[in-house]
Amino acid sequence: MKVLLVNGGPHKNGATNLALEEVEKELKKEGIETEIFWLGVEPIRGCIGCNKCRSNNNRCFVDDKVNEFIYKAENSDGFVFGTPVHFASASGAITSFLDRVFYAGGKYFTGKACSCIASCRRGGASATFDQLNKYPLINNMFVVGSSYWNQIHGNNREEATQDLEGLQTMRNIGKNMAYILKCKEKANLPKPIYEDKIKTNFIR
Ligand SMILES: Cc1cc2nc3c(=O)[nH]c(=O)nc-3n(C[C@H](O)[C@H](O)[C@H](O)COP(=O)(O)O)c2cc1C
Repeated sequence: MKVLLVNGGPHKNGATNLALEEVEKELKKEGIETEIFWLGVEPIRGCIGCNKCRSNNNRCFVDDKVNEFIYKAENSDGFVFGTPVHFASASGAITSFLDRVFYAGGKYFTGKACSCIASCRRGGASATFDQLNKYPLINNMFVVGSSYWNQIHGNNREEATQDLEGLQTMRNIGKNMAYILKCKEKANLPKPIYEDKIKTNFIR
């Protein structure tokens, strides 16, 4: 079993990464393979709604980190999406990234576990947490919670290490995700069979 953890912040070893590492430690304790996927600092373009991914094997026509991640997602069982709060929202990078990942490759996430994390200095974590949860919740995923909303406070890694409740929240995400993954493995049930999607655009 494998969990992919995304650091959607500009700092490879910043506060967001610290939170992800805390989740990761618990997953590893339970024998689950992990990988932290950092988005880096190069621009990640947004979705242009061209729908080319529909005829491109569920890949975006821009062959960048988005497609790299979709390939990895195919063989992963769980996901943690982490972002710093930027103006009370998720970072621009992770927003562009997840828009394209889910628009092109959403089918590789269905039926899998997901948890979202926000790190911030002071405010906007709950709004950001809500924003990120929109991706798994529209995609038939199982959202994993914790003992508080998934947030850690601190302006940088050093400060975030002092948020003991935030770190505990992260460890509990790891424990809960490991539990869900093990339950799924043990139950060995087939995925739910969904009806064909009914799409109404509120004009008929
Ligand atoms: C452009 C920008 C906007 C930010 N906006 C907020 C904000 O709205 N609320 C907040 O509490 N912190 C805000 N911060 C601070 C970061 O959320 C905080 O430093 C975070 O922990 C950094 O995580 P990182 O080290 O993983 O990048 C902002 C930082 C930047 C760079």
